[in-house]
Amino acid sequence: MSFIISIILITLLSSNLLAQNEPLIQNPDGRRGLSLDGTWQIIIDPYDNGYFDYRYQPRGDGYFLNQKPRSESDLIEYDFDRSETLKVPGDWNSQQAKLFLYEGTIWYKKDFQYQRQSGQRLFLYFGAANYEAQVYLNGQKIGEHIGGFTPFNFEVTNQVIDGNNFLIVRVNDQRRREGVPTLNTDWWNYGGLTRSVRLVETPQTFIRDYFIQLKQDSRNLIQGWIQLDGNNLKQILKVNIPAAGIAQKVVTNEQGYAEFTIKGKLELWSSDNPQLYDVEIAAESDAVSDRIGFRTVSCDGPKILLNGSPIFLRGICIHEQAPLREGRACTIEDDRQLLTWAQDLGCNFVRLAHYPHNEPMLRLADEMGLLVWSEIPVYWTILFDNSAVYQNAARQLSEMLSRDKNRAAIIIWSVGNETPRGDARLEFLKGLIGQIRESDPTRLISAATELHYADNTIMINDPLSNYLDVIGANEYLGWYVRKPEEIPLLAWQSTYSKPLIISEFGAGAKSGYHGQQATRWTEEYQNRVYEMQIAMLQKIPCLAGITPWILTDFRSPRRPLPEIQDFYNRKGLISEKGEKKMAFYTLQKFYQQLQSQR
Ligand code: GCU
Repeated sequence: MSFIISIILITLLSSNLLAQNEPLIQNPDGRRGLSLDGTWQIIIDPYDNGYFDYRYQPRGDGYFLNQKPRSESDLIEYDFDRSETLKVPGDWNSQQAKLFLYEGTIWYKKDFQYQRQSGQRLFLYFGAANYEAQVYLNGQKIGEHIGGFTPFNFEVTNQVIDGNNFLIVRVNDQRRREGVPTLNTDWWNYGGLTRSVRLVETPQTFIRDYFIQLKQDSRNLIQGWIQLDGNNLKQILKVNIPAAGIAQKVVTNEQGYAEFTIKGKLELWSSDNPQLYDVEIAAESDAVSDRIGFRTVSCDGPKILLNGSPIFLRGICIHEQAPLREGRACTIEDDRQLLTWAQDLGCNFVRLAHYPHNEPMLRLADEMGLLVWSEIPVYWTILFDNSAVYQNAARQLSEMLSRDKNRAAIIIWSVGNETPRGDARLEFLKGLIGQIRESDPTRLISAATELHYADNTIMINDPLSNYLDVIGANEYLGWYVRKPEEIPLLAWQSTYSKPLIISEFGAGAKSGYHGQQATRWTEEYQNRVYEMQIAMLQKIPCLAGITPWILTDFRSPRRPLPEIQDFYNRKGLISEKGEKKMAFYTLQKFYQQLQSQR
């Protein structure tokens, strides 16, 4: 058997049948299908023995075959069904104490019963797997994916069988120099099937993808496209938005593609009025509906305009760290808690750092009226002169753009955070910016740049800003540089008449630790930094928004200070136990003032 299997595998490998990156299916949760969430069997495989043989060559008889001894003398040295389990979605680090610091490979197996329908197509959709995933169904390799925070899907119409199917995924979260992100980050490397897994069912020809938004600078022109997939591509489709009295016929071309512009009387989406519309797309053989808001976002010199009116972005940074428990946020309750705290603070804007967060989080921001900055993990010093690294970043970007393009809440795409100035970096990021300009003309582009300090003047002069719509700038005045009381003395200079967002500032504090303002880690010290920052920020001419670092304390392997950090970055305004620190109320008061001045 194993010999035959390896032959099949070699042929599959050579004939490229292994799907690497099929185009994403838009709105998988809006389709029929089978959730594969729940309990999965696992094998913890620190030496990747299930994948490589003792010569460290990929093996043909790996754990993906889920082999069982067929006689008492048969030698099989693993058994999923007698092994331990993990919950999916969920990181592995927070589910078992022994996995808290584990970085390596874990094999996941899920059995599912299925009865196929004729003319039906089937796709496995993964919300995310950190960091690298190889997917096997019934012993056959289906595909692989790299990147821990974006979705991927593979067609398995011909691999699913009637009755019991076994799905096996090798997930490896080893950090690597050529990775995106690379070896060092200031967040926990949560590994595993961190988001939902779903078997999506579609008709033979189905609505694979669509982009429906308001035309740039228009208040009543909806612009969009629809892409069918299947063998009946030339169709008459209907785009219905009943609440706006829209029922439009659209005809696809030979490739199943249709572009359209529809005039309609729309209530525009905004943070004060997050109006969403039920949008239905109906094809001859398929239909999908979504909830979409219509708004425009643009710049006018140093101002950001939402639906044509200037808006100040009262923001906060958020990591996808589960509130009130260990681990990566992966439930709608987690997301709602985080965004509700942001609203309690008085925010109309959140920076989801430093990677695309889960899709339900973005849909919730749509519902709650929170504007969003969304980012790919081009973080610190990745290998900017390495083309494979570029391909990886560009793919993660296209997956983020594809998944979230219909979310009104997202107004800014960010191509990176605190990346070092240099030619290779500039070319790298210009490439990513060009990619966004090509596929999404409806949103602004930014990046969190680093500032330069010349004596008491802060220069906004990163050459990358020439290519950005909005300049993001991280500064840690009063924490990593300068004393809190020096902050208001500083002046700012910008070479650009573009909106500036202070995309990070802040200070650490251990919740409940009180003392003198000058004593590090006290709530008083953190609060002092906020008071001084707020005094300074109001003087910055081109300031269009702020996203202080950060809403909640979050796990970081770079923060070992005993009894203070204990592997938490303590710059949160709320502790991991949900305790609000003094600075939370200082920022809340400032945001209330800004709201009352509108
Ligand atoms: C950096 C970085 C964050 C980090 C923060 C900090 O600016 O962007 O990811 O957590 O500073 O040092 O706390």
